[in-house]
Order: sequence, then C-alpha cells, then structure tokens
Amino acid sequence: MSEQLSELILQQIQIGPMQNFVYVIGSASTRDVVLIDPAWDINGLLEHVRGQDLNPVGALVTHYHADHCGGSIRGHRIEGVAHLLEDTGMKVYVNKHEADGLKQVTGLQDSDLAVVDTGDTMRVGEIEIEFLHTPGHTPGSQCFRIKDTLVSGDTLFVQGCGRVDLPGSNIDDMHASLCKLADLPDQTVLYPGHHYGEEPNASMGYVKQRNFHLRVPDLETWRKLMERG
Ligand SMILES: [Fe+2]
Repeated sequence: MSEQLSELILQQIQIGPMQNFVYVIGSASTRDVVLIDPAWDINGLLEHVRGQDLNPVGALVTHYHADHCGGSIRGHRIEGVAHLLEDTGMKVYVNKHEADGLKQVTGLQDSDLAVVDTGDTMRVGEIEIEFLHTPGHTPGSQCFRIKDTLVSGDTLFVQGCGRVDLPGSNIDDMHASLCKLADLPDQTVLYPGHHYGEEPNASMGYVKQRNFHLRVPDLETWRKLMERG
C-alpha cells in the first residue's frame, strides 16, 4: 500500500515470511526518505526507493529483533541494517536502551548508530519525526510519530500487542507504554510492525475500540492477563 499525502511520503511494504512491514517515510519536496525496520531484502528495498528518485538518508529501527533489523533467528540469516550500511553508509537510529542489543544482533559498531530517546526529533526534508520510547516488548522498543501517523513496531498491532514473554520483555513496562499510546488522538493512524490483523493499518479510534490491550485499566488485571499468556 502506498500513500502520498501532500508533503508526507509514507509507503508500507509487507515483506518476508513473518508478515513484517518495512516503511519508507520522507519528504515529497526534497525526496529524502528514511527506511524503518529495513530487513529481508535490502537490495530490493534500495531498488524500490531509488527507482522512485527517493534518497535514503537514514535507517530507523523499532527494536532489535532480527526480523526488523537483520540477524539470525533459529539459525536462519535475515538481511538487515548491516547490509544496508555497506551499501549506503547511513546511520541507524536506535533507542539508547536498545543500542547494545542491536550491536549484538547485527554486528554494527557504535559509529554506525545515532542513539536517540523519547522527545528527540529528526528532520527528513520538510517532515519531522518524533521518537517515543515504548519499552515492554524489548527494553528499548520505540515508536515514531509524524503528525497524525504512528509507526509502532511490535509495541502495538491493530489487533494485539507484542509478546512480553521473551528475553528482555517486561510486562509492567508494556502496560505503561500501551497506556501512553492509548492517549494519542483518535485520528492518529497506526502503522504496526506486522500484518497480524485484518487491516494493515487503522486509526487509533478504531484500535481503541477493537483491541482490548489498550483498554486494561489497571496493572493488576494486566499482569493476570499477560502471565496467563
Ligand atoms: Fe519483535
């Protein structure tokens, strides 16, 4: 699916056997774009953006799982940011709590990274991206907000949320992160890290109605729900 609303370029690309979404987000007037969670087919992704005369200026990762940034899952190698940097020399924007994990998973060095935290912003041509730290699925999971658009990685899906039973997950942190996202205006459009729902994206108004993970009011109830799995 592709959208180009005035200045904002926003392309949602489903890729790989795990229904991952890669995003191309940038500025229509300058043609600069960033690649969010680039993995699985880096050459194909670069051909896709360069074929549209778009100039990739950075890679943003929501978290360090290999299906989002490259690495190895159960012995299966997945292409990702390491391959992308060989070809482009761009930086990888990662939350400060995720930098060490990202280096371990991808083999990147400190000099490859731009380390960010909640409240930091990045300009890409004429658009501004805001970084939001949303721990829970992993310690340094982050979302990206561009006006009424939220790219959420594995923190929030249209009909679910990321797993909290993995190494580095934290049930209480996920509750706090989801409460924060539940406060976003209804018109915000959610673009998740996987195509797990019926819809590839949806307004937060729709998600708040349909996704019970955003409606658990207290931490005790949340813990019971999540610990039961
Ligand atoms: Fe993940």
